[in-house]
Amino acid sequence: MTKTELCQKAQDMLKMAYVPYSHFPVGAALECADGTVFTGCNIENAAYGPSNCAERTAVFKAVSEGHRSFVRIAIAADTDDFCAPCGVCRQVLREFAEDMEVILVNRRGETQELTLRELLPYSFNSGILE
Ligand code: THU
Repeated sequence: MTKTELCQKAQDMLKMAYVPYSHFPVGAALECADGTVFTGCNIENAAYGPSNCAERTAVFKAVSEGHRSFVRIAIAADTDDFCAPCGVCRQVLREFAEDMEVILVNRRGETQELTLRELLPYSFNSGILE
């Protein structure tokens, strides 16, 4: 899948976001090593705490379907600025990918490309538990 197609999938998910509290939709499209793409949106909750970010929705969909190897994620928001993943999502992505490409997409379809290593240097990971 091209970068443009992956970004479009993330943007398409904005309309699926359940955001009655923040009114801040986020969409994600996660590309696995075998090319499979899982999408996600943020899903909020009246108790706030159980809310789930778009990135984690995509990761949990993928892992629950047997996919654990990720190469890229596109994250879209309906904002002029780029929406970088929160700390919790960075850590969840790190569990399955030491480094991966992170593509941020704003409302104009402009992109910023980063790596997970840039976003989460010196990360805590399973290696230290061994
Ligand atoms: N949110 C995401 O889905 N992904 C991010 O990277 C940042 C924040 C969601 C959480 C909440 O539903 C809303 O955006 C406002 O924080």
